[in-house]
Amino acid sequence: MTDSAKVILTPFIDAAAIQRRVLELADTIAKEVHSGELLVAGVLKGGFVFTADLVRVLNRLGIHVRIDFLRVSSYGSGTVSSGTPVLSGDLSEKLNGRRVLLVDDIVDTGRTSRFVHEKIMERRPAWLRTCVLLDKPRRRVVPFDADYIGFRVPDAFIVGYGLDYDNEYRDRPELSVIRFADREPEPSFRFRIDGGTVLFKGHLDAKAAEDAGDTLLHWHTDLELDLSGMQGADRDGMNFLSRLRESLSDKGFKLSIRGMKRTLGDKQV
Ligand code: PRP
Repeated sequence: MTDSAKVILTPFIDAAAIQRRVLELADTIAKEVHSGELLVAGVLKGGFVFTADLVRVLNRLGIHVRIDFLRVSSYGSGTVSSGTPVLSGDLSEKLNGRRVLLVDDIVDTGRTSRFVHEKIMERRPAWLRTCVLLDKPRRRVVPFDADYIGFRVPDAFIVGYGLDYDNEYRDRPELSVIRFADREPEPSFRFRIDGGTVLFKGHLDAKAAEDAGDTLLHWHTDLELDLSGMQGADRDGMNFLSRLRESLSDKGFKLSIRGMKRTLGDKQV
């Protein structure tokens, strides 16, 4: 059991934004799969919620899905990985010559995805792709690139929507950042995704810009920023907002900003 008195959960990505992204991912996957059967291999425990949501959208999009699960774990009961993934439950389906979509909640160090990918490839599928809800590229120890990624995220401990701390919080429909009040101070800046809006809170400096950049510089649709909770931004922060506008515009998306006048005066982004 977790000592809840010391635990602070801060909203990060709300349920509506997750569901929107699941729809987009399923649409991209369905276009690639096109027709025929797809074997979806979910990685337990963390991948169970994402897998369940994804396959139901794939079904609506006309993809014939069969489902199987494997169980891998490496974290034990804390926030620090033991480093060695262990296959504690195998798939029951044969993979030879089949199209396989591996689904997990997160790629962190990359060890689990790499390990599972290698295990599956040994069984000679005709086609193998990996879909993860979250990618934490800054934490990578073993190289691994997922084919379909929901959100790139900064190096924070995230729970909910299948992701746990000590086997808690998996049932929450949204993603939150977990913090331990006695060990970690409140961050001076945070952002959260609420539907189609990203809300900024605190002071946007270089570190904050780097964290937000992990997610937002890889954004995939039009974006609205709500800066009304922002207390200020230094030159690095302002440069980040300009880079964000450029990066979205290069991809054909728009950035709209709300609440800037009140927080940043007449500074132009
Ligand atoms: C988590 C998560 C991924 C893996 C990612 O699983 O579900 O499978 O860690 O971390 P990595 O990239 O550093 O390998 P965990 O081992 O905590 O087991 P669980 O899914 O049962 O929670």
